[in-house]
Amino acid sequence: MVKLAIHGGEPVRRSPFPTVSDKSGRNIGREELELLKRVVESGALFRYSGTMVSSFEREFAGFLGVKHAVASTSGTAALHIATGAAGIGPGMEVITSPLTDIGTIIAILGQNAIPVFADIDPDTYNLDPEDVRNKVTDKTRAVIAVHIFGLPADMDPLVELAEEKDLVLIEDCAQAYLAEYKGRLVGTIGDIGCFSLQQSKHMFTGDGGITVTDDDELARKARLFMDKGWDRSLGLPRAYVMLGFNYRMTELQGAVARAQLKKVRWVVERRRRVAESLTKKISGIDGLIPPKVPKGCKHSYWLYPLKIELSMFDATLDDIVKALQAEGIPAGAGYIGKPIYMAPLFTEKRGYGGTKCPWICPLYGREIDYYEGLCPQAEKTIRQLITLPCNEYFTEEDVEDIAEALEKVLYYYRRR
Ligand SMILES: Cc1ncc(COP(=O)(O)O)c(C=O)c1O
Repeated sequence: MVKLAIHGGEPVRRSPFPTVSDKSGRNIGREELELLKRVVESGALFRYSGTMVSSFEREFAGFLGVKHAVASTSGTAALHIATGAAGIGPGMEVITSPLTDIGTIIAILGQNAIPVFADIDPDTYNLDPEDVRNKVTDKTRAVIAVHIFGLPADMDPLVELAEEKDLVLIEDCAQAYLAEYKGRLVGTIGDIGCFSLQQSKHMFTGDGGITVTDDDELARKARLFMDKGWDRSLGLPRAYVMLGFNYRMTELQGAVARAQLKKVRWVVERRRRVAESLTKKISGIDGLIPPKVPKGCKHSYWLYPLKIELSMFDATLDDIVKALQAEGIPAGAGYIGKPIYMAPLFTEKRGYGGTKCPWICPLYGREIDYYEGLCPQAEKTIRQLITLPCNEYFTEEDVEDIAEALEKVLYYYRRR
């Protein structure tokens, strides 16, 4: 049997893979510099002094085919703008997935509302619409559907539920640019869609975000929420018409975002090709389950998640991932470690100013707890996931190395 690199053998791969952390795996350069130069030479770096951010908003809305887009400082801000615009507040519950970035939840807690977690579908890693329905109470006001890793959540039953119970349906598309659900782009299906422009996303400005909607009133409130609740159209004295924050994107980010928008289609198409090739190459490895893409959906592969049937191997998930890393493969174990409700923020309810607020808010008046066992599928699935990067600059050779390392490591650990 071939000796694994972790045991001193020759690694499958010695050179680094292209990565989203730097130029090796990011399509950025001349186009961004040209627009940035214009901004710097104009001296107008503030969005309401220049035109880059407003142009980006118009272009992004056109790109998705929606009426309104509001740019902001991060994906978290984009989500907070969504909950703020939708009137989420104290005493209300918002249902979301436990398999997500904390930014999704900050948007709920940031409005003093209560996050409620529904379990995931162990095949798609997205919200299980049945469990979302089970979690609805008379306090529920919104659902945030996360399109995790770039795969659309099952939107039809969520839209149906939102209509039936009069809930706001927010889509967290941070990882899912150009992902499609039954011929529709994610972000255009619910009431509001939110995107992130953080360094690792399909299009990026270091940090940044954008909130989209077809609803004129939600858009008006989103714009106010992003800009300190200030209605600039009313002139002086300044009209602060609602509570808002300063989530304004700068012209520098706007310049980069406009150039990036021209590239994102290419990025997603390249990732789909890389992912298809990897899926083909590893489809014969028993006990390894590539991403399942439901009929009518298109994945955009922010990451490439692999599920492993651990009972077929004499190793833990960590053993396998460490062995892959030793072979030179940038594999990760799980995603975010544990379902998000297991973080001390939730289990100990570490709220505002050292209190348990908003959980103890009298406007809520109920008890809710976060504990192991809350979402069994999420807890089980996260312990079976290997996450691999899926970069637009991966070559066929890169894909072959990943497949070879998976074969080598899993052959070694296979239970006989
Ligand atoms: C699913 C999801 N939601 C929200 C966010 C928050 O975005 P940001 O990091 O831009 O604030 C992220 C970012 O990683 C994400 O992946």
